[in-house]
Amino acid sequence: MIKVLYSLLGHSSAELPAIDYLIDPAIKTPKTDAWIPLGKLEKFEIGKPALVTFTRSKVNGWEKTANSYGMFVLKRSDTDVLVLSNICTHLSCRVSWKEDRQEYVCPCHDAQFGINGEVLAGPPPRPLDSFSGDLVKVEDGTLFIHLLEG
Ligand code: FES
Repeated sequence: MIKVLYSLLGHSSAELPAIDYLIDPAIKTPKTDAWIPLGKLEKFEIGKPALVTFTRSKVNGWEKTANSYGMFVLKRSDTDVLVLSNICTHLSCRVSWKEDRQEYVCPCHDAQFGINGEVLAGPPPRPLDSFSGDLVKVEDGTLFIHLLEG
């Protein structure tokens, strides 16, 4: 977008540092990634999703924001872990786990997701976002997920 703006003005970014200074930080949305610790793997019960929350701060130009995240950790066995976002894939409300129904429920439009995040009912277009395989690791007994923001 900045390049388009520069070309419309007939300049390169090297010729207009003031514009770069004024506009660039407000438009840039750099992607960041990090390994986020979710707790000791041994504390999670097999077959029972547990909600873990954390907050990440981010600086974008002049704006500093704090985003809160919720992840359901489902330990399927001692060596198999699935982590699901608690953000509904319809319009981003937060889902909760209903132990008696064995499903995640979204309060906004009555969506239901299975224990592995699959859509059971309602308007969501896809399963809950998940972390498994290369996006999950255990170091010194602590479970981490690889989170990409931006
Ligand atoms: S936001 Fe979850 S069903 Fe609409």
